[in-house]
Parts: sequence; C-alpha cells; structure tokens
Amino acid sequence: MNKITVSAPGKLMLLGEHAVVYQRPCIVTAVNQRMKATVELLNEPIFQLNAPDVQVANYQKSLDQLGQDDIPKGARFIEVAIKNFALKSGVKVTTCSEFSSLFGFGSSSASTVCVIYALSELTGANLDQKAIFDLAYKTVLDIQGKGSGFDVAAAVFGGTLYFVTGGKVIEPLNIPSLPLIVGYSGIKADTVTLINQVLEKAKENPQTTEDIYNNIAKLVEQAKVALLNTDWTMIGQLMDQNQALLKQLGASIDKLDNMISAARKAGAYGAKLSGAGGGDCMIALAPENKTPAVKNAIIKAGKQIIEVETNVEGVKIEA
Ligand code: PMV
Repeated sequence: MNKITVSAPGKLMLLGEHAVVYQRPCIVTAVNQRMKATVELLNEPIFQLNAPDVQVANYQKSLDQLGQDDIPKGARFIEVAIKNFALKSGVKVTTCSEFSSLFGFGSSSASTVCVIYALSELTGANLDQKAIFDLAYKTVLDIQGKGSGFDVAAAVFGGTLYFVTGGKVIEPLNIPSLPLIVGYSGIKADTVTLINQVLEKAKENPQTTEDIYNNIAKLVEQAKVALLNTDWTMIGQLMDQNQALLKQLGASIDKLDNMISAARKAGAYGAKLSGAGGGDCMIALAPENKTPAVKNAIIKAGKQIIEVETNVEGVKIEA
C-alpha cells in the first residue's frame, strides 16, 4: 500500500480553556465536521501539497528543505509534521475540510494528526494513539510555541475527553451525545494572540489570575461528574460560571456576550464562549423544547448556527 485516505474530527472546548494552558484540566469534545487527507508515498524525494481550503495549490519542496525558508501559512503544519516524522521517501498530500477554517474547529491540528496517522500506516511504523498525539503536539508547539494540545487529543482520540496540559491526562468520558448548540460570531480569532493577550493582562495581577485558573479547574472537575451523570442543569450552571471567569480573564467580547445572554434568555441551561475567545464560536446547552428559540436568539445576536454532532470518532481510515 502506498496511498491512504484518513480523516480526523474537529473539536469544541466545553470547559476549561486558557486555564488548560497552565497545568489545569479541560473538557473537549470531538465534532462531526472532519478534515480529510489523502497521503501517497512517492519515489522522488519531494513533498507536494494541495490544500484548496487554505489556498495552497501545487506546493512543492525537496525533502531536505522541509521546515526551511518561508512556508505558506496553509502548508506549515503539514510540512513540519512530515519533517518531524522523519520520512525517508517522497510524499504527496491532498487535504479537504468539511468545515471552514474560520470557525476555530481546529483544522490545523486535525490535518497534522491526519498526516502523522497516514504516514504511520503507510510506513508500517504503527504508532499508537499516544505516540501520534505526542508527535502531532510537538508539531503544533514547533509552529505556535504555545498551546495545551487539547485539539490534537480530540483529533486523535475522538469522543469527549477530560484532558490536562500536554496530554498529562487524557481520559475518555463515557457519555451520550450532548444537546449542544453552536453559534458562530462571524469574527475570526487567533488563538496565540488571545493567549498572549490573557498573559499580558495576567501580569497586572498574577495572584488574581492564578485564583481564576484554580476556580476554572474546580468547575471542570464538577463538570466531569455532572457529565457522567448526564446532569444538564448542573453543566449549564457550570458553563455560566466558566463564562464569568473567562470574562474576568479578558477573553470574551461584546458580540459573544450578546449571543450568550440571548441563548440564556431563550431558555438554555447555560452558555459560554468556546476556545480562545475574541470571536469564533459560543456554545449553549439547551433542553430539546427550547432548541428552536435558543437557535433563533443566537442567530439574531450573532451570525449563524453550525449544526454539529458531538462525541464522534477520532482519526480513522476512510479508504
Ligand atoms: O481557539 P481554540 O479553539 O484553538 O482554543 C484555544 C484554547 C486555549 O485554551 C486558549 C489554548 C489551548 O491550546 O488550550
């Protein structure tokens, strides 16, 4: 076999963002918007990439140049993933995403995981899930310098995970699909910019920030129990508390706040931003009979609803 197609899911952060960068836990769920990659080994020592969703067409580089020179943004994660895999033969990669890279569903991490998993299968390296996570997380850190790796874990393992920084703990939670509504703000946020912004603000009052992170960690622990008990009311309350703490960190913006309060007023159990903040998406947990009203309220205050199923399978072979 010298060619394979694999796919990995996008993700949504349920609780614990920002604190998880600093040795605290979070809860993340994999969503059914997937990144697909077809990976083919070549005889020539070159790397070729087509990634039309991120405007990369017929990108080509010799294997010994990987990671060098200016790499186009859309090629960075895949190129560095191949370099980190230390592949000896040439390779051609074509990616195709079911979701827009604007949503913040983790397209870069999902494509990194796809390529490493595909190479592991094609070369017979047969890396286990943790080894795939470690190599993909290293790739993300090589490029971004920062990040907890929660998105990489969701792409590899799928499901809903209790996760601690860098994969120190990756614990699958055996729960049913969540009654989750996802609202897109229409504003593109950059994760590293937001992490740095929170870090700058933290310098003004380091102890307060530590206290906020500890409080977030506490409510993540409570949410883990509530999830395992399918206690949606409790999870909703914890989401609201998490949002209040994220606001104190300076991660929210008016648009997200408006979408969140509209969802609550329309009958959601709770709502919060999901991910770094500053834009991207918010999530609401709502009883079935309130779902249409909550969706309408979110659309009015924001931009659009993204229909997702949560808790889906991690990276897998498609063909
Ligand atoms: O912006 P997103 O969806 O990639 O989420 C970032 C979440 C942070 O906790 C702020 C960063 C991280 O890597 O955990």
